[in-house]
Amino acid sequence: MLITGDKDEIRALAQSWRTSGERVGLVPTMGALHEGHLSLVRRSKAACARTVVTIFVNPTQFGPGEDLSKYPRTLENDCAMLEAEGVDAVFAPPDGSMYLQGHASWVLVERLTAGLCGASRPTHFRGVTTIVSKLFNIIQPHEAFFGQKDYQQAAVIRRMTLDLDMPVSITVGPIVREADGLAMSSRNRFLSGEQRQAAGILYRALCEVCTLAEKGTPLEDCLEHLRAAILSQPLAELDYAAIVDADSLEPVKDLSRPAVAALAVRFGPTRLIDNMLLPPGRTGDS
Ligand code: PAF
Repeated sequence: MLITGDKDEIRALAQSWRTSGERVGLVPTMGALHEGHLSLVRRSKAACARTVVTIFVNPTQFGPGEDLSKYPRTLENDCAMLEAEGVDAVFAPPDGSMYLQGHASWVLVERLTAGLCGASRPTHFRGVTTIVSKLFNIIQPHEAFFGQKDYQQAAVIRRMTLDLDMPVSITVGPIVREADGLAMSSRNRFLSGEQRQAAGILYRALCEVCTLAEKGTPLEDCLEHLRAAILSQPLAELDYAAIVDADSLEPVKDLSRPAVAALAVRFGPTRLIDNMLLPPGRTGDS
């Protein structure tokens, strides 16, 4: 497995694979890898002859006061995990190397970035779409793999590739969960024991709402239940609880179309997100 921080080296390698007709898969990450990331790696390996994983803690997607300096960096361990998975190459550019002095260009996706996480993190998605575009330009993968935990991110990236005619197909892998249902996240390691136990409420609340939706419960009652479940946990501070259209991410009026219930919740300084797709509910009152 090649490990490089050199753009030209990874570009040339990926180019050589494409030239010899090999399908190239890309799994972009910020490192601190867990089973969620590895599930994407396995999907890439199943679909593509070559898999590149990128590891870069992207400063432009962190707002002022967010956890950029504390973000876990475990490069050696990450590379050992990726080697064991049979990854072909890791691109891990050094801090500071992805944005030139005087960087002035951004990729913006409108509308989809306005709500949910975009409301409390107004510059976050601009950072994500810009770095992902740069990685796509360097590696030029046929397919790129993202996790459903970051539902809004995946929707934004898919929109970007469609709108900007980027020749890469986007695959979204299911959320990988701990035994109590907590979605795996590099940030879970910041939770104290007590917070970790309390954080199980996200999954339980989402499951309850899914059950309510399946029974045909009106949207407002589902949403109220989601909020109340989180607020019942004293260690949890609700950033948002929302039920939105699964494609447009706009608030929905009812559950007649596929929707997604999404949460962002803080436990102390640690902000966790999770979501669950709600199947179109029964609209009758039987
Ligand atoms: O999901 C992430 O880890 C990041 O947002 C990504 C896609 C690697 C861009 O920095």
